[in-house]
Amino acid sequence: MPFQKLKPEIKTILEDENLSIDHRLSQVCEVLKENIPYYDWVGFYFKNGDKDELKLRSFAGEPTDHTIIPFGKGICGQVAVSNKNFVVPDVKAQNNYIACSIHVKAEIVVPLFLKGENIGQIDIDSHTPDPFSREDEEFLEWVNEKVAEVLKA
Ligand code: SME
Repeated sequence: MPFQKLKPEIKTILEDENLSIDHRLSQVCEVLKENIPYYDWVGFYFKNGDKDELKLRSFAGEPTDHTIIPFGKGICGQVAVSNKNFVVPDVKAQNNYIACSIHVKAEIVVPLFLKGENIGQIDIDSHTPDPFSREDEEFLEWVNEKVAEVLKA
C-alpha cells in the first residue's frame, strides 16, 4: 500500500499557499487517482451553501453529470446525513445509488468534518470489485483531516 508514502506529498500540496484551495484539492485528487491503481475517479463534494445538497468542487477522472446531489440521494447523499463512512463493495447491490459510469464496480465515501460538522466528503469510484479495506478508510480520514486544516486556516 502506498498510503504512507503518499502522505508527505499530499501535505506538501495542501500546504502550498501559492495555489488556490481549489487547485490544491484538484491536485490531491490527481495524486490519489494516479498512485492508487484501484482509485479510478476521485472527487470532493461540499455542502452547497445553506441548501441540503452537495456540490462537486474538485475531481480527477471522467467528468460526471452529478455535480449536484441532494442530501439522502445516492451513496454521497446518504453520507451527508449519516456522518459515517460508506464502503460499497458492489454498487449493483445498492438500491440508493447514483451511477456515474457503467465501469464503476465499487465506491467509498468518507465524510469531511470541520469543527465537528460534516461539511463535505471525499468520494472514490473503482472499476475493481470490492477493493477497499479499513486502510483505505483510515487513509481517507487522514486526507480529510488535512483538508479541514487548510479550510479552517
Ligand atoms: N455514485 C455516487 C454519485 C457520485 S459519482 O460516483 C461521481 C452516489 O451514489 O452518490
